[in-house]
This record gives sequence, structure tokens and C-alpha cells, in this order.
Amino acid sequence: MENNRVSPIEIGKEEFKKIGYQLIDTIAHFIDTIEEKRVTTGESPKQLQKIIGTSLLPENGTSAEKLLSNAAELLFNHSLLNGHPKFLGYITSSPTPIGALADMLAAAVNPNVGAQILSPIATEIEKQTVRWLAEFIGVSPDYGGILVSGGNMANFTAFLAARTSKAPKNIKEDGLSNQSAKLVVYCSKATHTWIEKAAVLFGLGTKSIRWIQTDATNKMDNEVLEQTIKSDLKNGYRPIMIIGTAGDVSTGVVDDLRAIASICKTYDLWFHVDGAYGIPAAVIPELKFLFEGIEDADSIALDPHKWLYSPLEAGCTLVKDPNHLIETYSSHPVYYNFSNNDEALTQNFYEYGFQNSRGFRALKVWLALQQVGRNGYIKMIGEDIQLSKLFFALADNHPELEAITQNLSITTLRYVPSGYNHDGEQQGVYLNRLNESLLNELQRGGEVFLSNAIVMEKYCLRGCIVNFRTSKKDIEEIIEIIVREGKKMHQELQEKDMQNM
Ligand SMILES: Cc1ncc(COP(=O)(O)O)c(C=O)c1O
Repeated sequence: MENNRVSPIEIGKEEFKKIGYQLIDTIAHFIDTIEEKRVTTGESPKQLQKIIGTSLLPENGTSAEKLLSNAAELLFNHSLLNGHPKFLGYITSSPTPIGALADMLAAAVNPNVGAQILSPIATEIEKQTVRWLAEFIGVSPDYGGILVSGGNMANFTAFLAARTSKAPKNIKEDGLSNQSAKLVVYCSKATHTWIEKAAVLFGLGTKSIRWIQTDATNKMDNEVLEQTIKSDLKNGYRPIMIIGTAGDVSTGVVDDLRAIASICKTYDLWFHVDGAYGIPAAVIPELKFLFEGIEDADSIALDPHKWLYSPLEAGCTLVKDPNHLIETYSSHPVYYNFSNNDEALTQNFYEYGFQNSRGFRALKVWLALQQVGRNGYIKMIGEDIQLSKLFFALADNHPELEAITQNLSITTLRYVPSGYNHDGEQQGVYLNRLNESLLNELQRGGEVFLSNAIVMEKYCLRGCIVNFRTSKKDIEEIIEIIVREGKKMHQELQEKDMQNM
């Protein structure tokens, strides 16, 4: 080997600048013209496979310049663009441009935010980000926490801390098999499916989930909740936690968190709030009342990659007493030399969650919070909510649309053909079929991207606006598209049914 090693993967300064600037130029153009593109191309896996080809693993290299320009072309032209103003599906936001630049910067320096010594400034930035997120949603900045990959992981991280805290003290050593009383957890029927994964992962099993029915407003029925806890206690179960949802995934409803907090206090249960979607709305002074009670939560999940518009991936777990995280996740193997700093402020994030080696997710969140400040977010989140209300109102006033629900920034609605009597059971079945087919067609078509919700057994189209690019004009156009395609789909289905008669 020569004295000065030449690595094939290194890119020299001049070449890095050249291909880097080219890439930035193409990304800037992509962002600037995103609304002229289709939201998705609707290409099949087969078509996409054909585009990238089926060649075997390359034996030798290709120039980075060529590779990056091909990759950019592939991504710009064959992706679903959640940064498009007419993308209102699921809960994925338009990504902040500063977040895209931050991810590049983070990858270039590559701090391993598992341990303070490996990521000195990045650790401080993550600590500050966690504190700011607590301030953002209006709980004490003394909540501790950690950034994770998203909502599932944020909830899992809290769930295991709750189990460690509320199960018998030997649970870490003996596991669940030695527990005399079966552990149970409580949540509403509207809770996101992460809870089932958590029950499986952490050994409680899905039968340990007490799915509490919702009331007429789709909030957890807290009377039924309390009765269920009492009955479980009488029957020898060991309740450990209640999960309140702050913005349910289908319709955006926020549970009565104050009442749940009080039930947790009475029965000494862990109070977890899944605010993955909705809790950023607590930044809006007029909406604070919806979230009263979060200040009593033992843990909170929130997702910067939803309503803080961070590029994927960024979730966050906040815990009132961060020692619960350390008690759950800390270990000190002999090959770690991370505790050699006596400073009380030293924090090693590997002791706060599942990962040891960790990327620098906090940077993109930290920068966006500073780029626009609290007021910028109040404006953007407030406008998303206003647009969602407009979506509902336009649907409500349209003779061929039925507006169903509107909470936070989620609207549900369905297409009902002009003059259609939708009272009978058969008609209900037909409308569900019509709207499901319509949604599939809209998703394939690429003009707009909506998702679905089932509300009171009605199959609905669902628009969730966590998108700082969506405008009033987009919402008006989306209404027109739904009606135009709804008419077409109704006609198509009727013709199909006639042929089958
Ligand atoms: C309320 C709620 N919790 C958890 C999640 C899961 O989040 P992620 O997809 O980031 O894991 C979602 C996703 O939509 C959600 O709406």
C-alpha cells in the first residue's frame, strides 16, 4: 500500500463542490416546480423494476457525478411527492427545505449521538431540541426525552418505560413469566395500531389491551374506562397504564386528557399521551384548552415528521421524570468508556432509548424551530386548520358531497351522487363501494392524494393537511376533482352492475 492511501469512495474537494452544486441546483428546481408535477405517477412495481433494471451487483465503480444525477432523476420523476401542495394523505408532511439541508450537514459530520463523547455538540443540540419541543407543546421544559425515528418508536419507548415503572420491580430480571398478576393497559378504540405492536414486543400480548369504546364525539368513554379498571382490579389483573390520544389518526379527535390524568392518579397508573399527530396544535393559544391535562402526562409521543414538517425520520418521546428512561434502557458493558466525565450535565442518549449508535435527527428539527420560531409555527399550523375547515365547509355546501367530520387539520367526507337516497342498508353498501373505488382512482390518478377513514361505518375520503404548501386554491380544486371523478366512478359502477344483471 502506498504511503498516502487512495480510497475509491473518497471524493476530492473540487469534485465534491462540482457535483454538490449540481445536485443543489436540481433540488432547488425540483422544489420550485413541485406543484407542476403529478403527486404520484401511479407506476406499478413491475414498471419501476424495469426502469432500474435487474443487473447484478456491480463489480466495479461508476462516477459519483453520473450516479447522483441518475438517482436525482429517478427520485424526482418516480416518487410520490408528499411535498406537493395537493398531497393530503395519511399524516406525512411536506418536508422543510432547511431539514433537507440539515440532513446533508448531519451526514457529512456524522456524529454518533449515542454517547456524549462521540457527539459533543450534537448531544447538546438534541438536549436543547427536546427542551424546546416540551416548551412548544406547553409542558414543563424539565421533561426529558429523546429523538427517535417516528410515532411508533416514540410510543414504544414510552411504553417500555411505563412497564418498567409500574410492573413489579423484578420485571427487568425475571421478565413477564414470573408475574403473578397479568399486566393490562387501556386505550380507546381509536388508538393507532402501534399499541398492538407494543403489546406483542414487550410481552404483554394483545389480549392485555383493553380497547375502551368511544363516545358520540369519538373520545375515549372515560366512564367505561373507569369501570373496566375496577373490574380488572377485582379480577386480579394489574393495570399499568392508560393511553390518551391527542389527535386520533382517522379523524383528529383529542381525548379528554384532564379526566384521564385524574383516573391515572386515582389508580396509580402511568399516563401516556400519544400526540404523534395532533399535539403540535397545542402551540396555538386558542386551542390550548383541547390539550389540558398533558402537563400531567408521565410520557408523551410527538412527531416532528408530522406536524412540524420535518423530513422523515423524526419522532420524539418526552418523559416527565427522565430517570424512568435511564432505569429502563441504561446498561454499562465493559467495552463502553462513556462514563468518564463527572459533569452532572453529561447525557448519553444510548441510556434513553432503544438505539446505541444514533444519527443526528435533532439537527433538522432544531434548525426549523429557529428558522420560523414559535410564531412561524403558530401561523403554519393555524393555516392548515383553517384550510381543513374550508375543505369541510365546501364539501358541506356541495350537493354531491357529504361532509362527515372536521377536527384539527383532518376532514372526512364522501361522494354521494346527486339525488341519491342514502338511507337504506343497500345504499350504504353501495356508497362505501363507490367511495373506496373513487379513492383508489384518485390515488392512481396523481392529481391529488387523499387517504381513507371509516367513520360510523361510512367509507370516507380523508384529507389531513400537515402541508405548509397547500393553499385555498388547492382545496377548491381538490373539491372539483373529487366531484368530477366521483361522477365518473358512479357511472362506471352503474354500467358494470347493469352488465352483471
Ligand atoms: C396518533 C398516531 N400515533 C402513532 C402513529 C405512528 O407514527 P409513525 O408512522 O411515524 O410510526 C401515527 C401515524 O399516523 C399516528 O397518527
